[in-house]
Amino acid sequence: MTSRIAPDTMSTGQALYQKARRLIPGGTQLLSKRPERFLPDLWPAYYSRAKGATVWDLDGREYLDMGSMGVGACVLGYADDDVNRAVSDAVQAGSMCTLNCPEEVELSERLLELHPWARMVRLARGGGEAMAMAVRIARAFTGRDRIAFCGYHGWGDWYLAANLADTEALDGHCLPGLKPAGIPRGLRGTAIPFRYNVLEDLQAIVAEHPGQLAAIVLEPVRSTEPAPGFLEGVREAARRAGAVFIFDEVTAGWRMTNGGVHLRYGVQPDVAVFAKALGNGYPIAAVMGVEPIMQAAQTSFISSTPWSERIGPAAALATISKFQRLNVSQRLIAVGERIQHGWTEAARRHHLPAHVEGIPPLGHLVFEGQPAAALETLFTQWMLDQGILASGHCYVCYAHRDEDVTRYLDAADQVFARLARAIEQGTVEVSLRGPVRQPGFQRLT
Ligand SMILES: Cc1ncc(COP(=O)(O)O)c(C=O)c1O
Repeated sequence: MTSRIAPDTMSTGQALYQKARRLIPGGTQLLSKRPERFLPDLWPAYYSRAKGATVWDLDGREYLDMGSMGVGACVLGYADDDVNRAVSDAVQAGSMCTLNCPEEVELSERLLELHPWARMVRLARGGGEAMAMAVRIARAFTGRDRIAFCGYHGWGDWYLAANLADTEALDGHCLPGLKPAGIPRGLRGTAIPFRYNVLEDLQAIVAEHPGQLAAIVLEPVRSTEPAPGFLEGVREAARRAGAVFIFDEVTAGWRMTNGGVHLRYGVQPDVAVFAKALGNGYPIAAVMGVEPIMQAAQTSFISSTPWSERIGPAAALATISKFQRLNVSQRLIAVGERIQHGWTEAARRHHLPAHVEGIPPLGHLVFEGQPAAALETLFTQWMLDQGILASGHCYVCYAHRDEDVTRYLDAADQVFARLARAIEQGTVEVSLRGPVRQPGFQRLT
């Protein structure tokens, strides 16, 4: 798809993105940052600076970010002063060395204090790699291959193997149409999906594969709250199957509590995995778990140079301290609830076909009906006209001030009214100045 915008009127960001698409397969390093996911041809695409909840593009235009806040990583806000100070100290003290950094021990201790059910921790830097590590440990511990899972867990072979058996297996779990190209065919049948809140799915998998499941993997919560007894039922199924019970907290962690969201539900996993918000955008991930299972990491080879650097643990320690000191999760919940309530009321007021999903800090605005993708694109276009980065999800951060939320909700209210009129007049598509967005990071579970 080439841009419909003439080169002389194209923003600097879009011009750079056209170049990036020639140099970088797929244009970006993360699918969720592709401009086509939001507003093809018109999304600012690149930033020159980001601070708090404000972003400046390459042309110096300023935006209020009410979108994903660094795809969920910057839970305190961009370039947080306290986290940056800790990182700066780590840089000055030497962020890499022949010897190990003591911060990795301090961080492990802090994580275990917050999650007393766990005894040991390994660190990584990305969420997907940490999930791959957790699955490797579970396979090493059990000596088994198969994984039952629900939801999205990154780009690893173990996960995409699900689409070797059925090319649509992952459609209901994350991105429709993911191809298992490059995944060894020998992994066929090793990753088996079940639906969130449908315990019978998992029970059937357990019954069909006696003595074969290495792990059961899911997010404790995401789009919808767990049904009464669901998480307990998964826990029990894992126990009976002799499988390692893994909670993926890569995105849900450090929002509803100072730590894993599972702490709210009183259901303890064998292993929990964190990333993203843990370092407020600086790369750091953690795999923690009960001792005998974590010890199995020693029977496999799990080792990487950047997992030993200092910036990630230093950032995480500063993030956790600030989270605790300012009771950040209470603020995120309150702001998220205000936004979700604002969406719901505005949709009702203007008779806009849309509903709300997700825990308050990770809100999703889901447009309904046939022109849903076009509606969301137009929402993004008209919000961008008002200097706001917005799409079908709003990930709250501590730097979102009350007046930011008021500005956002006022703008959304006006845009909802215009969208409702556009639907009535059949002018949704013609109001777009570029193509309709490509389907986004849909989570149907
Ligand atoms: C639940 C979950 N697991 C794993 C990942 C992968 O993390 P990363 O993008 O850091 O590799 C994500 C990313 O969105 C996620 O939401």
